Amino acid sequence: MFIRHETIEKNAFLMLLLTLVVISIGGLVEVVPLFTIETTVEHVTGVRPYSPLESRGRDIYIREGCYNCHSQMIRALRDEVERYGHYSIAAESMYDHPFQWGSKRIGPDLARVGGKYSSDWHYAHMANAQSMVPESLMPHYAFLAETVLDTDDLVKRLKAQRMVGVPYSDEAIANALADLRTQADPAADNAALLKRYPKAVQVGRGDGPATELDALVAYLQVLGTMVDFADPANENLRQ
Ligand code: HEC
Repeated sequence: MFIRHETIEKNAFLMLLLTLVVISIGGLVEVVPLFTIETTVEHVTGVRPYSPLESRGRDIYIREGCYNCHSQMIRALRDEVERYGHYSIAAESMYDHPFQWGSKRIGPDLARVGGKYSSDWHYAHMANAQSMVPESLMPHYAFLAETVLDTDDLVKRLKAQRMVGVPYSDEAIANALADLRTQADPAADNAALLKRYPKAVQVGRGDGPATELDALVAYLQVLGTMVDFADPANENLRQ
């Protein structure tokens, strides 16, 4: 055994050749599963890029570190599915850069919180969680309701998302500010908004510029609602 090893060590060419063989086995093990990615990732209908207001809400979610207490990833385990709904599928976070799966659950999972409560509930809960859930230990975020949402770099942000693969059309980018204002004003005509961003929920009171809380609530209300599991096109996902 040792003598054979000595032969290898003394022969630089053989050593190089065998090293290459060993490395390529490791490489193949990593690369080959990617060839089947087309068949392992489920194809679903309904997933769309975030609307401008939802996307800014997501920025605030990240800025405030909500992921330190909340995950957005329902595992395919019975107790999780019964509590939170259909387990999360990869396609649902395909436009999330970076994804918000998280690893900690001090609070509940938020992957399907959209539509679970009214927007009024979220406004009250975000301002003072204990007013809605007395035993809650979630911090207060009342200041978000008083902070006007910064939209100066909205277009740049959407373009940056587009660079990493989120399919915002030129039309979507040109209308970004208008779409944001429409979604933050329940009295505004939302036909164009819904055409570009189906299921976008209008939030706020329309009494002034959009606040950071308007954006956050719009984001929370869309979470997990994009894929319609009752749609025959998504039949393969039914549990
Ligand atoms: C210190 C941990 C902590 C942080 C940080 C935190 N939360 Fe929570 N959150 C909780 C806990 C605990 C609950 C469960 C009690 C309740 O509903 O208030 C909760 C509940 C929620 C719920 C209701 C979920 C449901 O299904 O009932 C939402 C929505 C929510 N949080 C959003 C947020 C957002 C958005 C942020 C960031 C701005 C945030 N949370 C930050 C701990 C936290």
